[in-house]
Amino acid sequence: MPTAKIIATGSYVPSRRLTNADLEKMVETSDEWILERTGIRERRIAAAGENTSDLAYEAATAALSRAGLSADSLDLIIVATITGDMPIPATACFLQNRLGAHNAAAFDINAACSGFLFGLSTANAYIRSGMYKRILLVGAEALSRFTDWEDRNTCVLFGDGAGAVIIEASDGSVGIMSVDIHSDGSYWELLNLPGGGSKYPPSEEAAANRMYYIKMKGNETFKVAVRTLEKLVVDALEKNNLKASDIALLIPHQANLRIISATASRLGVGMDRVMVNLDRCGNTSAASIPIALDEAASSGRIKENDYILLEAFGGGLTWASAVIKW
Ligand code: UT7
Repeated sequence: MPTAKIIATGSYVPSRRLTNADLEKMVETSDEWILERTGIRERRIAAAGENTSDLAYEAATAALSRAGLSADSLDLIIVATITGDMPIPATACFLQNRLGAHNAAAFDINAACSGFLFGLSTANAYIRSGMYKRILLVGAEALSRFTDWEDRNTCVLFGDGAGAVIIEASDGSVGIMSVDIHSDGSYWELLNLPGGGSKYPPSEEAAANRMYYIKMKGNETFKVAVRTLEKLVVDALEKNNLKASDIALLIPHQANLRIISATASRLGVGMDRVMVNLDRCGNTSAASIPIALDEAASSGRIKENDYILLEAFGGGLTWASAVIKW
């Protein structure tokens, strides 16, 4: 059975920075509160007319160019996103068209902040089964379009961006060792965007009730996240017969520095072995892990044969982990 190997990464964040000082002028908040409770200093905001597929395109072309591959060599494109360009078609189809990836099937995955790892699980399964040989997986979000800029509970958290990986079939000993994905829909009310679907179709009433914006019960989500992630990362190591000292780098979903530190501490990994870009990017949902992974790979923080552990938690609720030998 072939293994699935990440052969290249790429990422893109929009140029516009929104700082905590900027937010102080928009809602009743402070740099001190945001930094202390979340670890975020600034986030990037997509320009007018810059859509999720555009962010995905920049990340994807960076990964393709690093791999020295043309888009028509791709068998499949998966985009993990909750902020696609349109409800129909899939953002992956816009990306496929713009890339000229004529031989690739394309679809989206919605698993909120865990979306990239759900996509990795899907790509891993396709490659191990022999069905596809080369897959482009992108996590891309324009969360600023669905952020309620009058709600201080959520508007300080999110940012825009995209990260991409190219995954190939390999017969070597390195690659994706495990991906574990989980969901519990009974917690759907903790984190959602209620309007625009079949439950609350587009209407003036839905707009008046601000239903087209992301809602989150932050504190309750926080508690479930910490409890769940602590077990998730320990299970991921056990499953692969690894010790915490074997992990060269932990790459967590970037939601909150307190969640990240609690998970690292439970695992026994010092913060010097944890990838953090939350301070600069905020929470970019499905894009956060591939952006952090690209930053780690391109800055030399991951070397050949290193073990890396990825983990995420998000709306659904969903959570997931992956262990990769680089
Ligand atoms: O990405 C996927 C899943 N998401 C997460 O994992 C996020 C999980 N949650 C969190 O990261 C944190 O819960 C938040 C950062 C969202 C909030 O931090 P918290 O420590 O849980 O604060 P809280 O919601 O319990 O609010 C504490 C206080 C409240 O005031 P009172 O009721 O104590 O008077 C809030 O109204 O902080 C207030 N508050 C703010 N104050 C200043 C909430 N947002 C703000 C704000 N600025 N932006």
